[in-house]
Amino acid sequence: MTNQYSITLLPGDGIGPEIMDVTVKVLETVGKQCDIKFNFQTALIGGAAIDAKGVPLPPETVETCLKSDSVLLAAIGGYKWDNLPRELRPETGLLGIRAALGLFANLRPATILPQLIDASSLKKEVVEGVDIMVVRELTGGIYFGQPKGIFTSETGEQRGVNTMAYTVSEIDRIARVAFETAQKRQKRLCSVDKANVLDVSQLWRDRLIKMSEEYPDVELTHMYVDNAAMQLVRNPKQFDTIVTGNLFGDILSDAAAMLTGSIGMLPSASLGANRPGLFEPVHGSAPDIAGQDKANPLAQVLSAAMMLRYGLNEPEAATKIEEAVLKVLDLGYRTGDIMSEGAKAVGCQEMGKVLLEVLEGN
Ligand code: NAD
Ligand code: IPM
Ligand code: MN
Repeated sequence: MTNQYSITLLPGDGIGPEIMDVTVKVLETVGKQCDIKFNFQTALIGGAAIDAKGVPLPPETVETCLKSDSVLLAAIGGYKWDNLPRELRPETGLLGIRAALGLFANLRPATILPQLIDASSLKKEVVEGVDIMVVRELTGGIYFGQPKGIFTSETGEQRGVNTMAYTVSEIDRIARVAFETAQKRQKRLCSVDKANVLDVSQLWRDRLIKMSEEYPDVELTHMYVDNAAMQLVRNPKQFDTIVTGNLFGDILSDAAAMLTGSIGMLPSASLGANRPGLFEPVHGSAPDIAGQDKANPLAQVLSAAMMLRYGLNEPEAATKIEEAVLKVLDLGYRTGDIMSEGAKAVGCQEMGKVLLEVLEGN
């Protein structure tokens, strides 16, 4: 029997449409092989939505996403929209869709592939075997806390304000995802905070300790975020699963990306409760290389694999995609960001083409 899924595509801006193009073809090919039918609909978000509709997240985009089984997003943002007021910026559209779908848990795996060991800026012996899962809280913390804004005092001086806040229920639900994720891995969970300075972090730490009583098989440790940034570069192999808040997770996942060679390789899954999940690369719209056929589409392709695995429960199709990615790397194909000596340099479209060839067994 054919499984059918309705997928909303949000190509967004910059390299977004280029990497989405490749990914849709990959999904269609795997779909045929695994008896899966994808019904794609494309919706506007970010700068593309601002240009067409005047807002970064049109209500019809939210409606379409809510009605679908999963959402696949590429990236948003670009120089053109950088000077718009906050509520009209592409980034506000991305935060808006995460909030509208209740996507509080963002899973960002950073795994070093043996094929790309030379693409990392770190020494081989430091990164070899790295396999980290960053569980980033995605709909709370300083990104969403109130009050926020730029206010003018009685003396006429401006003051910019954001508030880092977490409620117990927000901490508990991300902690649960993290403990359960760690249970399926090496059962080591490192909670990253700034409890030596921030009250919000103290509450975070207290709740993690309390919650750990329910997960006696998981070893819980704590680390301050500044040290975590250093340890990720010094000795990344000490980490299995990391759980942290929205802002720290944003920063640490980019750092973790570089262990693997390129942010162009890193997928992510954003999950909530009882709503469609959203799957997106960790990287942005890369405006510096947009429209030049230079983008690495693999983070997007691997995000589609995460969609199949975590969103649609189609592990076989997910594995097919992941294996095809490894195979094209084995064959020596590299986009600029992961290029190394002796490899075959390809652009975004060409990388897509060889992926399809590998999938089709040519
Ligand atoms: P970025 O991730 O877009 O780019 C950082 C660097 O990595 C650039 O040099 C870029 O060329 C490179 N890079 C990123 N993805 C790549 C890929 N697939 N292949 C090859 N190289 C790649 O981050 P930035 O420059 O800080 O931000 C650019 C815009 O993207 C901003 O508007 C930002 O707000 C937005 N952004 C969006 C998302 C998202 O949509 N999820 C994430 C991060 C940043
Ligand atoms: C990411 C991005 C976003 C974030 C921005 C573009 C809103 O950096 O997905 O990592 O900070 O979450
Ligand atoms: Mn980021």
